[in-house]
Amino acid sequence: MQQPPLEDRVYAPQPAFSRRAHVPDMSAYQALYEQAHQHPEEFWSGLAERELDWFEKWSQVYRWEPPRAEWFVGGKLNAAYNCLDRHVAAGRGDKPAFIWEGEPGDQRVLSYRELHRLVCRFSHVLRARGFKAGERAIIYMPMVPELPVAMLACARLGIIHSVVFGGFSAEALKARIQDLEANLVITADGGWRRGKEIRLKEAADEALQDCPSVREVVVYRRTGSPIAMQSGRDLWWHELDRDAAEDCPAEPLDAESPLYVLYTSGTTGQPKGILHTTAGYLLQCVMTMKWVFDVRDEDIYWCTADAGWVTGHSYVVYGPLAAGATSLIYEGAPDYPAFDRWWRIVEKYRVNIFYTSPTAIRALLRQGDQWPAGCDLSSLRLLGSVGEPINPAAWEWYYRVIGGERCPIVDTWWQTETGAIMIAPLPGATPLKPGRASFPLPGVQAEVVDFRGRPVETGQDGFLVIQRPWPSMLRTIWRDPRRFEDQYWRRIPGAYFTGDAARRDADGYFTILGRVDDVMNVSGHRLSTMEIESALVKHPAVAEAAVVGRPDEITGQAVCAFVTVKTGQSDYHALAEELRRWVAHEIGSFAKPAEIRFAEALPKTRSGKIMRRLLRELVTSHVVTGDVTTLEDMAVIARLAARRDDE
Ligand code: WT7
Repeated sequence: MQQPPLEDRVYAPQPAFSRRAHVPDMSAYQALYEQAHQHPEEFWSGLAERELDWFEKWSQVYRWEPPRAEWFVGGKLNAAYNCLDRHVAAGRGDKPAFIWEGEPGDQRVLSYRELHRLVCRFSHVLRARGFKAGERAIIYMPMVPELPVAMLACARLGIIHSVVFGGFSAEALKARIQDLEANLVITADGGWRRGKEIRLKEAADEALQDCPSVREVVVYRRTGSPIAMQSGRDLWWHELDRDAAEDCPAEPLDAESPLYVLYTSGTTGQPKGILHTTAGYLLQCVMTMKWVFDVRDEDIYWCTADAGWVTGHSYVVYGPLAAGATSLIYEGAPDYPAFDRWWRIVEKYRVNIFYTSPTAIRALLRQGDQWPAGCDLSSLRLLGSVGEPINPAAWEWYYRVIGGERCPIVDTWWQTETGAIMIAPLPGATPLKPGRASFPLPGVQAEVVDFRGRPVETGQDGFLVIQRPWPSMLRTIWRDPRRFEDQYWRRIPGAYFTGDAARRDADGYFTILGRVDDVMNVSGHRLSTMEIESALVKHPAVAEAAVVGRPDEITGQAVCAFVTVKTGQSDYHALAEELRRWVAHEIGSFAKPAEIRFAEALPKTRSGKIMRRLLRELVTSHVVTGDVTTLEDMAVIARLAARRDDE
């Protein structure tokens, strides 16, 4: 019999999986959803009581004064305690918390007891050096176990942490340290990526030249390469650890005390510091570990994200540890030394649950089936995808070649702002449709609406909004409550605006269509057109710049920059190279434009606004069909289409 086209196939949950699943069928899902919808207070307080350990109980489940939400008002707890102490106290101290593999092949296994010990020692050090609740620590480290140790040590004391991805440049790091007015920086000499050292301390030194708020810098030794230590400011982690003690009880912190700030790109040149607090965030991380990843005590769970992104916060550190899971961390690149590195890791550690991005799947798919075929992937029982829409062809390859047609795929939609997964299939319950994130989780009231906030019809495109507050929702933007209100709560009446477009099919499944604002999604990394434009116009040769995302087979979108230059440049090829290096210096290599086009002028409206919509059309279709009557110089478009600097 002929199969229907990929995007129309439906994969029913497999009985063997459903039988043992946390949510075993659709009626169980619907019952949970209804309960959360009808009785949110009972629903969430029941879970909070069962799933978290408290020092003091809350007096009110939630308080909602739009756009300000508070959850478990008056309750006291500690995130690190919930991730470590309670598991050790319950006799689970010997269970591996992290299984770690460095890129060069070194390995460590840290039990819950050992991880607890490392965290206590490091928080003891921080406390002894006078760092206190409410102060801020920037963490700029490779993916070694000491990165989560640093996060948890901060959480133990109530120090607000902000992890900056190691791929960010010194300039980007500096901007974050300054915005956060950080008191402490925790970094390392370097880390390994594709056999090369990423020299983190060097970048930190450059950033720190202009950061008066920073009192001390703690440096973890990872690569052993020579670095400069500034006396009076820089301290070696291993030297501090020598005098550390283990008695460092977890501070009882307010349910709403800030846990971390994570910077992400918005629609302006300035990144925004998304603030998450403690109890609600942790609760939704744990619940999604159970509902979506169906994690069991015996599972080896692997999320490939770097802790520099929100996925690493919620699904490498807080979610798996709060759930008491065993989680794998790999330091390096998926293609080093060869394209089967990830599959070898799955085979070696018998990984059961594997969570990664569509970009990674597409990049590995392109290398051919021989790489996964050479490894035993039979331990896998569940696959996950996050960060961008997954196209049906990549979904199908993931399902067939990696999952051996055995493993459900959970396509999880969420954002830095939502803190935890919001829309996703439940692997034992939801019939899967490739490319559809499917249904909102219990307690998540998602809807597709028009700009007035009215639901659109089945099959129509609209804005994805969330109509009620949820526990792990961002609380504000650091130092910018106005922007928080404007960005998320003033766009669509009565709802949280996600910035994504979506559509629902006749069965109610959500398909996420992508961003509707000036945010691009490149390899699942969020980039702002404005941020790259601001970086470009800082270069002395650049007069104006406009950046748009163009579709890319592997990375989803690729950065395309239109640039006008100041003086008579002749070597455009060299300038393009120079500008790519410049963007890497200003932001990080991952933000480098894939394509730079030089133009005499950019298309603008009569009021002088750059018409990005036209440029987007130009790079997508190579033909411009939009209404161009407001253009100042229509000939510009033709010239833009003609002159192009290919890679
Ligand atoms: C944006 C959020 C959430 C962790 C990683 C990214 C896009 C995310 C999906 C998905 C389609 C997705 C959205 C969203 N996105 N997951 N399953 N299907 N699109 O976090 O950097 O905050 O980006 O990523 O456009 O708004 P982020």
